[in-house]
Amino acid sequence: MALTAKRYTITAALPYTNGPIHIGHLAGVYVPADIYSRYLRAQKKDVVFICGSDEHGVAISIRAKEEGISPKEIIDKYDQMIRTSFDQLGISFDNYSRTSSEIHHETASEIFTKMNDTGKFSEEVTEQLYDPKANQFLADRFVTGTCPKCQHPEAYGDQCEQCGSSLNATELIYPKSTLSGAIPVLKKTKHWFLPLDQYQDFMKKWIIEGHKEDWKPNVYGQVKSWVDDGLRPRAVTRDLDWGIPVPVDGADGKVLYVWFDAPIGYISSTKEWAAKNNKDWEPYWKDKETSLIHFIGKDNIVFHCIIFPCILKASGNYILPENVPANEFLNLEGNKISTSKNWAVWLHEYIEEFPDQEDVLRYVLTANAPETKDNDFTWKDFQARNNNELVAIFGNFINRVSVLTQKYYEGCVPARKDLTQEDEKTLDKMRAFPAIIGSSIERYRFREASQELMNLARLGNKYLADQEPWKIIKVDPERVKTIINIALQIAATLATVAEPFLPFSTKKLRCILNINNPSDWNEITTSTDVLSAGHVVGGQELLFSKIDDSTIEAQLDKLEASKKSNLEANFELPPVKENISFDNFNAMDLRTGTVIEAEKIKKTKKLINLKVDLGFEVRTIVSGIAESYAAEEMIGKKVTVLANLAPRNIKGVKSQGMLLMTENKNGKLIIVGPEDSSMGNGFEIN
Ligand code: MF3
Ligand code: ZN
Repeated sequence: MALTAKRYTITAALPYTNGPIHIGHLAGVYVPADIYSRYLRAQKKDVVFICGSDEHGVAISIRAKEEGISPKEIIDKYDQMIRTSFDQLGISFDNYSRTSSEIHHETASEIFTKMNDTGKFSEEVTEQLYDPKANQFLADRFVTGTCPKCQHPEAYGDQCEQCGSSLNATELIYPKSTLSGAIPVLKKTKHWFLPLDQYQDFMKKWIIEGHKEDWKPNVYGQVKSWVDDGLRPRAVTRDLDWGIPVPVDGADGKVLYVWFDAPIGYISSTKEWAAKNNKDWEPYWKDKETSLIHFIGKDNIVFHCIIFPCILKASGNYILPENVPANEFLNLEGNKISTSKNWAVWLHEYIEEFPDQEDVLRYVLTANAPETKDNDFTWKDFQARNNNELVAIFGNFINRVSVLTQKYYEGCVPARKDLTQEDEKTLDKMRAFPAIIGSSIERYRFREASQELMNLARLGNKYLADQEPWKIIKVDPERVKTIINIALQIAATLATVAEPFLPFSTKKLRCILNINNPSDWNEITTSTDVLSAGHVVGGQELLFSKIDDSTIEAQLDKLEASKKSNLEANFELPPVKENISFDNFNAMDLRTGTVIEAEKIKKTKKLINLKVDLGFEVRTIVSGIAESYAAEEMIGKKVTVLANLAPRNIKGVKSQGMLLMTENKNGKLIIVGPEDSSMGNGFEIN
């Protein structure tokens, strides 16, 4: 594949301003989109990289209610936070706009009006879900229920996040209002519908037949299954008070559906950029020679591959996306990332806690990107990728080269002379990398590209290790000039091809090598000298530094703390069981005793074999407490025992009694123990 388009419009999903950005957003959307855009710029392409805040929709209203402030305060707060943190991570948008901006309201209203005037909608009065307690129509995230497709019990009114289906709220089984918990009733209301059924053939031709080969299988597969299922009309207006008012007389109290206006945000953001830069926005959206590419997460596929393209098509002369390289989801330490459960690594916190290590996060999220399947982020892997790859391979190579250049030649690039076969081979390999890395990026294989980048650094390390200039210098100093020259060419090649992935470190590397204008990506493939002899390199600087265990543990502790507070927040005392008679109670013989031996029963998760001294005899008791207590920890503990429970065989051990335990908020079992250490007296029942 070659980059043949005349210009490129690259979009990254507009994040909702209902919370901060986390690693899932970054790995799925923003880091790959940024690598791609930076790569295109390095290829000297005409590119505009567009994003902005998605500030309408029910997600915002809900968050505002939760925080007890107005939607406007919510969007201002998170818009600011999000744009700052993107900037700090080096996400190089050409423009970051907001859907609350005037230009966006105008653009979205214009498109709606034009579609309405040209008969692209059907207006229909239908019965919609209505919350009788909150006196409000329910749609989208204001209503949850069971997904009719996959039976997921918490599907939203417009989408099921489990199976990705796009839904109409009335299709939910057992719908429930998220505002009041009420069961909705049906009430008539008028809405504007986009008759997607009329676009069935268009979708078939354009994607199903036209993009079978070049779109990612996960994206193509989802689209195909919806189209095969038959597309249905979808309402593009809502009865809500937060959003862009429907620009038609007699539509009071109605706003555009957030998924109607948000993607149009890409267009308004492009307009804003063009106005600021004295450009014309139209070719970026209307010229057939422009390549439009949407970077999104998998939950956005239906909107970018079906609904928005149908809007574009219906609106006239817009281009359609050339590709929609959607990613799967990133999990965190084995669990789904969740904003409400605070199970996430937040970008703004990372920036604070890992100063000067933006590239580490960029690299780890790329090397482990969820490109073809969901993937897991772990802090251990983060540490290993930093210490074993960025520090030990990339950083180490650069450090060796720059130290040796200073030491032997006072920073002046030596000329190379007669080349050995090994030298030739190394140079050939080096020259192949830019094309290899570029080809992976062009095919949206960013993980692969990041590994090839590391392979180039590996090539440099191996070359130095094999040639051993530090030994040769004593016997053949002339030869060392050639070795260092070649190593420097590799370092300079890295300074070009690493830029899309590691922009901050590349900047440092360019200082180290003293190159202001990096070499052209394509020229290094053919030129013999990336860095010419006689050039004086810059000072020394460490590109990456080791991350120690305590840093990683602190992050794991933080996650542990969220887990705990979630358990506490969700803790509900179980209802009290039915009454029992006094005789039943009296029939229990409760004794106190001391644990004198304890041993975990092998191949079980919960069981400990205990010997408990009750004063009159020692009992063997098997107890399911191993998830709360270590066996050693039990020895010496005072316990209360139900001594007349019929013996039972558990895992081949005869258990003669039961320990009294209760459970705390975190699910940990707690010993109901005697306060006094005297034993064997039983309980006085008064
Ligand atoms: N805000 C949406 C989300 O976070 C994405 C909107 S993308 C756009 O899922 F196309 F609508 F802009
Ligand atoms: Zn579903």
